[in-house]
Amino acid sequence: MSYLTATSIACPNIAFIKYWGNCEPEARIPANGSISMNLGGLHTRTQVTFDSGLASDQLVLDGRPASGPTLHRVSAFLDVVRHIADLALFAQVVSANNFPTGAGIASSASGFAALALAASRAAGLELDEYELSRLARRGSGSACRSVPGGFVEWEVDGCDPDSGAVSIAAAEHWPLGDCVAIVNRGHKPIGSTEGHAIAYTSPIQAARVADAPRRLEICRRAILQRDFDALADAMELDSNLMHAVMMTSTPRLFYWESPTAAVMRAVVDWRKSGLPICYTIDAGPNVHVICLSDKIAEVSERLRRISGVEEVLTAHTGGPASFIL
Ligand code: DP6
Repeated sequence: MSYLTATSIACPNIAFIKYWGNCEPEARIPANGSISMNLGGLHTRTQVTFDSGLASDQLVLDGRPASGPTLHRVSAFLDVVRHIADLALFAQVVSANNFPTGAGIASSASGFAALALAASRAAGLELDEYELSRLARRGSGSACRSVPGGFVEWEVDGCDPDSGAVSIAAAEHWPLGDCVAIVNRGHKPIGSTEGHAIAYTSPIQAARVADAPRRLEICRRAILQRDFDALADAMELDSNLMHAVMMTSTPRLFYWESPTAAVMRAVVDWRKSGLPICYTIDAGPNVHVICLSDKIAEVSERLRRISGVEEVLTAHTGGPASFIL
């Protein structure tokens, strides 16, 4: 019997400029570029072991054996790695998150970033950061942004099949916080993959995509210059645009709940009164409230007092995915 094993760790990320809709769905080539921040303090840890004694791939997720579509997605990703490495062994994957599922934090980003590192190394590949980012993208688009550290841009150049993400500033450049106001822990009825597939049924998706380079430029510059007001404007506009596309798709996707809107309104009011703070919302009802890292405690406390907010989860600007020896 032969074993090939490796372990890695990766943070989830929150997109400031969102990925929504694909130019090429199979290879997850996005319709527009995106920019995100890694969420330090939260992570997925994954061990991959290719083992000649296995008759199929196996997955243990948060301590429980997984099957069905979850195992199938991981197995399809391992097929990509096996193809590149010219390897014919099945693998055991043991993966665990240190953050709760259903908390409005996409575990697919940290999950496939960690899996890309561990699986490629266990298969004997030595990939550089950009190659690992491109590989992670094949499992989940946003996972490519969890490979590099800090503030990360997923660049697109037309429908480039080599699309991957790069760090535009290290975590230490600008310590920010993400206070996630959890208004519903339940599983979302329609996930991102299905949402991407119907993005272009919205009459406004083309306009959203066409304007993306302008928003990316504003966001990139705001990060580099640590200009919170400019970041807040670009981030809220981008989140609102993505949700406008979702709400006008066929079938319609409406993720917001009443407390979602209450948090958005409170954030805008608090910013007007001088607190540097802004919101962004992914494919779910929970609200990511971005602030300066020294305001995390105050912002969390304020959010907890809003009716309908069940819990507040916090994170700070995080580093790159890495191997654990
Ligand atoms: C709303 O990366 O989860 O969070 O590639 O199908 O796994 P798949 O989609 P995914 O989409 C993320 C959508 C988003 C915005 C973002 O993170 O950019």
